[in-house]
Amino acid sequence: MPDTAGSRTARVDFRATSDPALLESADRGEANLLTYRELYSLWERQQWAVQDLDFTQDRIDWHERIGADERYARMYGLSSFFVGEQRVTAELGPMMRAAPSEDMRIFLSTQIADEARHVAFFDRFYSEVGVLHADGLDERLAETSEHLNPEFGVLFDELLKRRVDRLAVEPEDLEALVEAVTIYHMVIEGMLALTGQHFIIDYNEREGTLPAFVEGFTNVARDEHRHVAFGARFLRELAREDPRHVTAIQRALGEVAPIAEAVLKPKWAPDDDAVELFGVTIAETRAFALKALERRMKVIGLVAAA
Ligand SMILES: [Fe+2]
Ligand SMILES: [Fe+2]
Repeated sequence: MPDTAGSRTARVDFRATSDPALLESADRGEANLLTYRELYSLWERQQWAVQDLDFTQDRIDWHERIGADERYARMYGLSSFFVGEQRVTAELGPMMRAAPSEDMRIFLSTQIADEARHVAFFDRFYSEVGVLHADGLDERLAETSEHLNPEFGVLFDELLKRRVDRLAVEPEDLEALVEAVTIYHMVIEGMLALTGQHFIIDYNEREGTLPAFVEGFTNVARDEHRHVAFGARFLRELAREDPRHVTAIQRALGEVAPIAEAVLKPKWAPDDDAVELFGVTIAETRAFALKALERRMKVIGLVAAA
């Protein structure tokens, strides 16, 4: 593995989030997790603007340096992120409202703004680079959705949405919130998004392609580490409060793990974990995701169930 990947996960601003996946001490279950208010303050210091990115070189790379087959192969990752960011933006409102303390709600409100910015980032990348024919955000989302796996729909529109719909009508159902945070922050952001980001950024850095995309996507990854750090703190606190919450975390992980695994792999990829996509095998990708989950679960006080 080239050291661009190592140097990125060692970045001071990434580690400042206290996401346990970035801390070796988490292997022993130790991490100095930031408080909700400290995470809020970090959000104030870690702002960035989609409008500041210049996609001129990215447009040249996409049409002139990246071949048609590779453009098609890249559409799986791009589409999963673009649509995934739209889904998590839409689902976070009821979770924020159901959070039991004001400090949690303040942080989750910043996260809603972040997720909306991530949608705007992909929308701007698609339109400036000319990735699709469609014009307008809704139209682009519809066109790019054709590249998704069926399991993507199960994860977001069934497993996550069912919990969020419950919270929308029963905001005091703390067990439903624990399950929703497990699926949202630990699996979707922690295992899937941060793993995909890690390998997609790494591949582009090695190839020297899409510089503005890499810059923006690195900012997205930093935001995700901050979100996952919130999830780790929340789940550790609630797991210590009530053993039923530990059971809820395990139940949610057990239910989503097989689906999450299928989302990591494009539907056109061969059924062979040793085959390389963008320079890494599916097995390596899965190992990276599981290591991150294991560290976070240890810090929360659980043994990884997946
Ligand atoms: Fe996001
Ligand atoms: Fe996020």
